[in-house]
Amino acid sequence: MKIRLGTDIVYIPKFGKLLENEGFIKKVFHESECKNYNPENIAGIFAAKEAFFKAINKKPDWLKVEVKKQKTGRPILMVSNELKENIEDTDISISHEKDYALATVLVKNVN
Ligand SMILES: CC(C)(COP(=O)(O)OP(=O)(O)OC[C@H]1O[C@@H](n2cnc3c(N)ncnc32)[C@H](O)[C@@H]1OP(=O)(O)O)[C@@H](O)C(=O)NCCC(=O)NCCS
Repeated sequence: MKIRLGTDIVYIPKFGKLLENEGFIKKVFHESECKNYNPENIAGIFAAKEAFFKAINKKPDWLKVEVKKQKTGRPILMVSNELKENIEDTDISISHEKDYALATVLVKNVN
């Protein structure tokens, strides 16, 4: 069993401009991920996705992971079956303050 860690930081003012591009949004986010959220929330979700792909050492395939929020507000990562093969568990944490959003992802691999 191996544990892999990924982390990513996003500069929200620059990222906010990308959110004006509908093509970018459709390519990267599930509808549920941007519903009722502001740029800082979405930047956190983006950072979580980046951090996940860093952790598994793969090129980002954005829609293969989805960040969901539990009732308490705690984020969780849903990984598509295609990527799930060697993954036993994941955990994520998101934070934002002023111009930056940051996420850390832990991935527990089966072998
Ligand atoms: C909720 C909490 C994370 C907010 O921290 P903060 O310093 O004000 O804000 P941060 O920017 O660092 O974190 C915000 C992110 O934390 C995450 N978060 C929210 N609630 C959370 C929770 N219960 N557990 C873990 N992460 C949580 C979200 O991803 C949120 O980002 P979002 O608003 O874009 O969804 C912090 O109060 C905390 O860790 N509390 C302990 C857990 C807790 O209170 N649980 C309540 C059980 S009902």
